[in-house]
Amino acid sequence: MRSGVRRAGRVVVAWVLVALLALLVPAATSGVLPPGGALAPTPPMGWNSWNQVGCSGLDERVVKAAADGLVVSGLARSGYRYVVVDDCWQGPRDSAGSLTADESRFPSGIPALAAYVHARGLKFGLYAVPGSQTCANYYAKYPVRGIGSIGHETQDAATFARWGVDFLKYDWCRADLTDGLREQPAFAKMGEALRATGRKIVYSISEYGEQKPWLWAPGLANLWRTSHDIHPTWKSIADRIDAQAPLAQFARPDAWNDPDMLEIGNAGLTEAETQTHFGMWCMLSAPLILGTDLGALPRPTIDMLRNADVLALDQDRLGRQAFRVGRSGGHEVWAKSLVRGEAAVALLNTTSDATTIRTTLSAVGLPPGRWLVRDLWTGAETSNGSGRLSAVVPAHGVALLRLSPITP
Ligand code: GLA
Repeated sequence: MRSGVRRAGRVVVAWVLVALLALLVPAATSGVLPPGGALAPTPPMGWNSWNQVGCSGLDERVVKAAADGLVVSGLARSGYRYVVVDDCWQGPRDSAGSLTADESRFPSGIPALAAYVHARGLKFGLYAVPGSQTCANYYAKYPVRGIGSIGHETQDAATFARWGVDFLKYDWCRADLTDGLREQPAFAKMGEALRATGRKIVYSISEYGEQKPWLWAPGLANLWRTSHDIHPTWKSIADRIDAQAPLAQFARPDAWNDPDMLEIGNAGLTEAETQTHFGMWCMLSAPLILGTDLGALPRPTIDMLRNADVLALDQDRLGRQAFRVGRSGGHEVWAKSLVRGEAAVALLNTTSDATTIRTTLSAVGLPPGRWLVRDLWTGAETSNGSGRLSAVVPAHGVALLRLSPITP
């Protein structure tokens, strides 16, 4: 990608300005953080039932198998530690109006399941909604009614805290249409109820990016969905990557853009597309929430998901989402600031043909000099003083480079 010097200069200036702006914004809206500090200093990692079993296949065996799968595969040791039960766990509210679990799906009950997850050194998550209907009520004919949290926010938050919940996914599900709610106050209400319990519960909200939550959710929630539901297709992955480009300046520790959960392991993506899905989610500081049968994941896929160099981009303490600094003809260059003055560069090929993608240090906002360049898929390292970066990138693939300054 050899853009003209003037255009490259403009891109660099814009990028530097945006990065400076991000520095000036406080780490999160103060006053609303729990006393213990950030709940999600880096993007949460783990597993969620939805992309694996949806509504109909959810039961406690699936959740226990996922917890065991995280441990046995080594994924837990790499940081995947939240086990989140999505929609369709609920039974009818009891006579006191408290939530219960569906007894046939969860015969041991949620507290026992949370204890099972905790006993493995993992964290436990649940799903709820602000209105009267969950999305499965609305879209999948889930028959149990009255399980939304409207009018029960304090009671439900207390139930979650008592049950040992560490993560709540709170999902809009058309509460504007069904209950006349508005997004920001409805999400704030549950956020306050969770905080009032005193338990540290990561708060993940989802209204599919419709009301630009990146403008109002920092400080209110720890992560917010930026799109409608992901699917295991290249179009779905590519669309989500594209949609994150203008949102880079809004992500920071404890406040993450969420382009939705991973589809890795679910049929529909080529090997290169799978790598791009994972690699770009890491560039984008996205939550890494698996949604597949972990017991069926091929070893090379587990190894990719555990690639410490790539995970380090996602989990970098600076918490800066990558900016897209250039694109032409389906070839894109993304750059991400890292701790210690290091940086990551992604050379993304959204076309159907393998190609060489080129960029320069100045185009990605780095000063001239000698840099150690590490290819994060192969581990190959080169010392680069030319100022030029390039890689051969397969169709729908991405090259990931980490650049570290070499001090003379
Ligand atoms: C919505 C969400 C999904 C999932 C389902 C559950 O579609 O976006 O992630 O939680 O609801 O019904």
